Order: sequence, then structure tokens, then C-alpha cells
Amino acid sequence: MKKNIVVALSGTGRSLKNLVEYTRNSDVFQVAGVVSSSKKALGLEIAREYGIEVFYESFSKSSVASPELSCWLRKKNPDLIALAGFLKVFPTKFPGNNGEWASYKTVNIHPSLLPKFSGKGMYGQKVHEAVLQAGEDFTGVSLHFVTDVYDEGPLIAQVKVPVKENDSVSRLSSRVFEAECKLYPYVIEGLLLGSLPKKETLMITINDVSE
Ligand code: GRF
Repeated sequence: MKKNIVVALSGTGRSLKNLVEYTRNSDVFQVAGVVSSSKKALGLEIAREYGIEVFYESFSKSSVASPELSCWLRKKNPDLIALAGFLKVFPTKFPGNNGEWASYKTVNIHPSLLPKFSGKGMYGQKVHEAVLQAGEDFTGVSLHFVTDVYDEGPLIAQVKVPVKENDSVSRLSSRVFEAECKLYPYVIEGLLLGSLPKKETLMITINDVSE
């Protein structure tokens, strides 16, 4: 039986689309629900297109989830929660009805080689602008567990992506996103199956990212 993941987003849902498309040929997992912190997120359209149930709330900064989110997640019972462009703080503690607490394995993808180019305000194109401005030879993608500290949970895997001469933000961001599209489903499957190589941080080389 396929495992269930929930995807949390705030924006366009490009990673959601990538994950859902991937699951068409995967026996390992399916996207059982989408959490959004924005009513206007374009990602909600993608969720509707694929018939995936959506939960919306504006989210406070608390690490304790609302009773509504806790209840919704209890019903979904996800094996993993994958943040995909989620711009708020995702809770780590989920209250139950009878004083018990739940927690979920939650991962995030960030479009840089963490800890570089991270933290509040470092998202989307801003990351790639900063990478170009700093004159880096390499950037990349990082997968990490979500803790109460934004962008700072333990790293799971990283992939390096070259910065080319005369790169533009848009060229660099497409190259990085191409790497994200390969790394995210690979790591999710690996975590769900327990099949990721046991290294502290897995450094993956993706050779076929556009030159
Ligand atoms: C991805 O690039 C990911 O690295 C970051 O958010 C992006 C997806 O968000 N965490 P969106 O779909 O473009 O809003």
C-alpha cells in the first residue's frame, strides 16, 4: 500500500506539481492532502486540479498547531509532511483531544547549500540573487528536517549545482529547480522506505542538470 504524504505550501505549488506527477509512477507514496498558509496560493489550483483535499489557515508563529490543523492531520495520518514553498513557521507539536501530543516527520527543501543563503526573507528569487551577488561558483539544494528553528533542522541531503559565467537569476533558478525536482522525490522515497544511505548528510551529484 502506498504511504501518504501531506504537502504544505504558500505559493505557486511548483514542487507540489512535481511531487504529484512523480507519484503517477511511484508505488511508494501519494499526496493525500495539501496545507496552505494563503487563500490565494496558486498551489491551491494545482491541488484542486488533481483532486487533493486542502486545509487552509493563516498560521501564527507558534510551534504548537491549532486544534483544527491537528484534527485534520489526525484524519490524514501522514507518514511524512513535505514543505514546498511554505513561508510561515510550520508547527512541530500537535495537540490531541485528550491531552496527548502528536508529531510528524516533517522535511523542507531550500534552494541553496544550507547554511548559506538561509533564514527569514531568503526564499525564491532572493536566494539566487544573493548567490550571484556573492560570486559563488556553486549553489545547490538542501533537504532538511523541520524543527522550531527556521531553515536550521538537521540536513538530510544536498545537491550541488554549478553557477555559470554570466548566469541570470532566471537561468540559475531554473537550473536549481531542476535539481529540486529530482532530489525531493528521491529523498521522500528514501525516508519512507528507510533506504537512504546512512551518511550524516548525503551529498548527491546530479549530472544531468542543464548546462
Ligand atoms: C522551491 O523552490 C523550494 O526550494 C522553496 O520553495 C520553492 C517552491 O515554492 N522552498 P513555489 O512553488 O515556487 O511557491
